[in-house]
Amino acid sequence: MSAEPMNAQPMNAEPMSAEPQGDAGDFTVVCQVDDLAPGTVSQAEVDGVIIALVRDADGAYHAVDDRCSHADVSLSEGEVDGCTLECWLHGSRFDLVTGKPSGLPAITPIADYPVKIDGDQVLVAVTPNR
Ligand code: FES
Repeated sequence: MSAEPMNAQPMNAEPMSAEPQGDAGDFTVVCQVDDLAPGTVSQAEVDGVIIALVRDADGAYHAVDDRCSHADVSLSEGEVDGCTLECWLHGSRFDLVTGKPSGLPAITPIADYPVKIDGDQVLVAVTPNR
């Protein structure tokens, strides 16, 4: 990855903090489109919610809860594989569209959040999709 997300922090540092944008409704700008390389993940904070911001292998952005539903570890320290995010601790993979785990030991879905692209900006709303 050649560029870091706007306000990006190293994985174990404080998450990047996004400021609400007045003209974006419930959506908050979290980074620029080119800030994350395809197949990478970064942690971000939006309105007090810690999310894993993922750019999948096809370049699409996804936002999911940063906490694994199995043992409460940070999913932004995991690996992106296609359209899934793999938990680094026990290997459950979460679908980036549905939040559902595809295998044990996790059995509970994680929240997934709406993402939109506005020009060069990536915006996230922390009202879960379901
Ligand atoms: S902590 Fe994530 S699968 Fe166990």
